[in-house]
Amino acid sequence: MPDFADTRTVLETHAVGPMQCNCSIFGCRNSRECIIVDPGGDADLILDRVTALGLHVRFVLITHAHFDHVIAARAIKNETGAKICIHPKDKWLYRIAFIQYRLFGVKGDSPPRPDWWLGEDDQIPIGRFHADVIHTPGHSPGSCCFHVAEEKLLFSGDTLFRRSVGQWTYPGGSFAALVQSILQKLFVLPDDTRVIPGHGAETTIGEERRLNPYLQPEKIAELQREEENKPGLFKQILSLLGGLLGLRGQNEE
Ligand SMILES: [Fe+2]
Repeated sequence: MPDFADTRTVLETHAVGPMQCNCSIFGCRNSRECIIVDPGGDADLILDRVTALGLHVRFVLITHAHFDHVIAARAIKNETGAKICIHPKDKWLYRIAFIQYRLFGVKGDSPPRPDWWLGEDDQIPIGRFHADVIHTPGHSPGSCCFHVAEEKLLFSGDTLFRRSVGQWTYPGGSFAALVQSILQKLFVLPDDTRVIPGHGAETTIGEERRLNPYLQPEKIAELQREEENKPGLFKQILSLLGGLLGLRGQNEE
């Protein structure tokens, strides 16, 4: 059933693809224009719902370029002509989507060339409404959230989940950056802002500010210390190579 956020807009979210990514269709009922956020698979389902709702897809917003958020991007663009929008700091991840598919053993089309390289505070028009781009690095360098202020609605991708946060240990991730993004850019939004994350159940900004276990001061300090004490990527690769070549003993001397 469509979830009418109010009489002026329509919102539907479906868990799609191999990782059950939340793919949202958000539209303006007056103009019939809509966006699709995170086309993570099941293109036929998404396109059927768009048709059933009588909407036209203008933009496909990709919160970040992990494979499970882009699988259906090509099919949706081919079918609707929608413009693909993503932050340029995830360009490298986007370009290696086919490698990510192989690593995770899933099938998917390489995503199409983006039409709009997003920047902080860009506004994506959706009929009478618009979504503000909030660049929230941490889970990936180009992670973004999309905020429809008029509807108090936030699509948070894999930056903020209900009672959790996005994994920060993937290539290009950083816990310090993730926390800074959430505290400085998301927790300044009104408490009753509805949050649709990239996976799992929805929540609100107020709930997460109070109850998210990863975002309490002691936990933040602990995880930041852990991250600071972790060897850098270069050292990790050297150590791995050393181990593979049997050089560990020599390196340690
Ligand atoms: Fe992700």
